[in-house]
Amino acid sequence: MPLAKIAPSMLSSDFASLAAEAHRMVKDGADWLHMDVMDGHFVPNITIGAPVIQSLRKHTNVFLDCHLMVSKPEKWVDDFAKAGASLYCFHIEATNEPEALIEQIKKAGMKVGVAVKPKTPIETVYPLVDRIDMCLVMTVEPGFGGQKFMANCMPKVKALREKFPELDIEVDGGLGLDTIDKAAQAGANVIVAGTSIFKSESPKDVISTFREKIKS
Ligand code: DX5
Ligand code: ZN
Repeated sequence: MPLAKIAPSMLSSDFASLAAEAHRMVKDGADWLHMDVMDGHFVPNITIGAPVIQSLRKHTNVFLDCHLMVSKPEKWVDDFAKAGASLYCFHIEATNEPEALIEQIKKAGMKVGVAVKPKTPIETVYPLVDRIDMCLVMTVEPGFGGQKFMANCMPKVKALREKFPELDIEVDGGLGLDTIDKAAQAGANVIVAGTSIFKSESPKDVISTFREKIKS
């Protein structure tokens, strides 16, 4: 299994102090920062776009894991590449031409992720896996932080891990000290967490516990 990577979701941070929040997370052991991009169309919420990534990039070299919950993912590839995004993760439900989009993202110089919503069968990503860097298995309906972890998504993670032992598999939504075991046992190695990290008195301890669980 690939190395554990812990990616705090900056959606739960104080956006008014984004650079300071990013530095704090890195200091506390974050490997990546997870940036939730919502367009108010693919999901019923609006968050941030490329300009915010660009501003943050001026303050840190950390890996920016950008989760695009948008209807036309092909439209923003160049903007995100120029802004300094490290990985561009689009939703399989948002495109009819995933192969072309993958090529576009690679050409722009970013790593590629493909995300699946809870009700989307995991088999939809199988034909793409040899061309991508990561698969994101959503463990809540995308749109909001602070929702309940859907354990019934774990068979998808398990099936993906059995088929692709070296793939980075990310889980996102409702991850915390009470749910990490299920995700780790299923084979996830990239852990996104917003509420459980930012609401904790010790984000550092939460991050290091996640890392330990993935190892075992
Ligand atoms: C939900 C987002 C998540 C969210 C996770 O649509 O993709 O990244 O911020 O937040 P928690 O960890 O609070 O569920
Ligand atoms: Zn996300």
